[in-house]
Order: sequence, then structure tokens, then C-alpha cells
Amino acid sequence: MKIVSIVGARPQFIKAAVVSRVLRERHLEVLLHTGQHYDDEMSGVFFRELGLPRPDINLGVGSGSHARQTGEMLIGIERVLLQERPAGVLVYGDTNSTLAGALAAAKLNLPVAHVEAGLRSFNRAMPEEINRIVADRLSALLFCPTRTAVENLAREGITAGVHQVGDVMYDALLHTLPIAERTSSILEALGLTPGTYLLTTIHRAGNTDEPANLSAILAALGATGEPILFPVHPRTRQALTRWNISPAQNVRLIEPVGYLDMLVLEKNARLILTDSGGVQKEAYWLGIPCLTLREETEWVETVEAGWNVLVGTSVERLVAAVHSFHPPGEQPALFGHGQAGQEIIRLLEEAWG
Ligand code: UD1
Ligand code: UDP
Repeated sequence: MKIVSIVGARPQFIKAAVVSRVLRERHLEVLLHTGQHYDDEMSGVFFRELGLPRPDINLGVGSGSHARQTGEMLIGIERVLLQERPAGVLVYGDTNSTLAGALAAAKLNLPVAHVEAGLRSFNRAMPEEINRIVADRLSALLFCPTRTAVENLAREGITAGVHQVGDVMYDALLHTLPIAERTSSILEALGLTPGTYLLTTIHRAGNTDEPANLSAILAALGATGEPILFPVHPRTRQALTRWNISPAQNVRLIEPVGYLDMLVLEKNARLILTDSGGVQKEAYWLGIPCLTLREETEWVETVEAGWNVLVGTSVERLVAAVHSFHPPGEQPALFGHGQAGQEIIRLLEEAWG
């Protein structure tokens, strides 16, 4: 069995690390990086920290409009798939790299396996929602992290090849957290005391491309008066400059950090504010209260369990929640038990071996 795995953006390196490590050991994988993310702190650092092999191919597509970026990926991926003739193609998550990988493979009649299938925000204004719907529709194997994801697919009439395997990001966290706690010196480097600061990440197009939303979020962060650490995604850095938005004094901007440092920053935060999918889940697994800077989430379990509150971009809701939100004691195991990667490999071998 030969598999071509397709990655391109930060969260995909973390997801792929879990599966790729095993596929690599068994010489079953060709790893293709589309080049969607390319700065060292958005790409290279994750390969080094997670022990991911260097990609066999990097298409170097870089940034661009949706059509240009996806189109260049399609051309590059098709070329590689024609050369490699794999048994199937593995895609992760919901980025343009996911969409291009699934589409290029499907057009060559190669079976597609989608890790993190079935997630829905029911908001088609999100580019990710379009990517998910298309990738799921084209996939022969759909690896769902949660029960909700399986149900979402069933509602769209997709039941064949659907497997609830748990969340590979939970596997990654369980594997990496002890290493991060042993090796990261980020708290000392930034002079942070555990439990005394808030952590925020912002990068969704809906927040960064709308100046009113981005300024409302920054105003709300300022209005909390709490010390807030903000590792800034390059998209958001550009938006802050473009819209001339200056953060308040209590908001400390730093460059994006590696995964090890990020886990330590999350684990020691008093509260997390984010529009990231991955960060919402990590907050839940680490038992840190989370406020989501969106009006909806794909990770509804974290809200239902009482650990995540949707505050959107409302200054009042955000400030009130920062001061009053106290989640219940428990985090039920709704994302599997840290064996999603193993289960995915077993199912891939069964289907394509
Ligand atoms: C992408 C995904 C999003 C995912 C996020 C993870 C799509 C449509 N979006 O969003 O689902 O949550 O990655 O972080 O696929 N840039 C750099 N250096 C880089 C990468 C990007 O400066 O290494 C800048 C460029 O100006 C670029 C902008 O960030 O135009 C946005 O990058 P892009 O990959 O298009 O989308 P993300 O916002 O990163
Ligand atoms: N992350 C990181 N450094 C940062 C910000 C995020 O390592 O400065 C990690 C985070 O811990 C999570 C993943 O990146 O594992 C989430 O990626 P992102 O927020 O970019 O995308 P999303 O999950 O929203 O698609």
C-alpha cells in the first residue's frame, strides 16, 4: 500500500504527525506539502518539533486568492499523483489544501480518506465549510472525530465508509504535552506566572477581513483590563496594519509560537479566547475555560459540556464572560481516548492494504 498524504497549513502538520509517523516507519507514505503555509513559525517548526519527516514534495504554492491558490495546488497535486500512482490519498481538516487534495485525487479515480470528516458550522460564508462539504462528498473513507460529525454526515446522506475514530489532535496533545512540559521555557522567557494571564488567537477570515469585527475584538480585549498574550497569525498581523488597529496596553503581541510552547501557554492560561478550531479543543482537553470569538462552532460538544462559550465579537459578552465564566468540574471524553491515529491506520490498511 502506498499513500500520498497531503498537508499545507499549521493544524494539518499537527494532525498528520500522528498518522504519518507510523505510515513512515512502515514505508507506506509519500508526504506532499502544498506550501500553503511557508514561514518557519507556521510550518518548519512543526516538522522539527513533531518529528515529522521532511515532505517528499513541497509544491511551494504560497499565498493567493482562493482560486489561484487552490488551482495551483490542483495542478501540482495531479502531477504527483500521476507519478506516484498511490492506493489512495489522505487529506486532513478543512483548508484549501484539503479541498485541492480531495478534488485532484477524485478526478484521477483515486480513493480519498478524510481525517476530521463530518464537521459543520452550517455557515457557508466560511471558506472552510465549503472545503469540508466537498472533501466529505468526494471521500471513500471518512474518519470522524465525534458522534456529532457522524450525524452531520448521515443528514447529508453519507453513511458508507464513515468511522468514528476519535480526534487525532487529542492523540497529538497526549503524546506531546509531557515533552512540552519538560522542554519548553516559554513561561520564563515571557516572564509569565501560571494562571495569571489570558491567551488569545485570532485568524478566521470572518474576523480578520472585517475591520469592524477585528476592532471590536481588540477593543473588548482591551476593555477586560487583564494581561492577555496574543501570538499573532500572519494574516491577522497584516489586517491589524491594514486597518490601523492598535492593541491596548494589556494586550501583548508576539510572533506565532511552536506547538510545544503553545501547549504550555494554553495549559497555564487562566482563560483562552480564540476563533481557532484546534485551540477550542485543546482548551477543553487541558481543562481551561474557553471563549470562542465566533457566533457558531463545529465543536459543539465543548459548548454543551459547559467549557466553551460563544461570545462572537460583542464587547459586552466578551468582557462579561471573562469576569464571570466558571465551567463545571468535568470534561467528558467526547473525542476518543488518544488512539485515533492507530485506528485510522488499521482502517486504511483494511481498505487499501
Ligand atoms: C488557513 C486555512 C484555515 C486554517 C488556517 C490555519 C484556508 C481557506 N484557510 O487560513 O482554515 O484555520 O490556515 O492557520 O485554507 N501568511 C504568511 N505566512 C505563511 C502563511 C500565510 O504570511 O506562512 C499570510 C499571507 O499573507 C496569506 C495569509 O497569511 O495571504 C493567509 O494565509 P492562508 O493560508 O491563505 O489562510 P489562513 O488564514 O492561514
Ligand atoms: N498553534 C501553535 N502556535 C500558535 C497558534 C496555534 O502551535 O501560535 C497550534 C494550536 O495549538 C493548535 C493549532 O495550531 O494545535 C491550531 O491551528 P490554527 O489555529 O492555525 O488553525 P485551526 O485549528 O483553526 O484550523
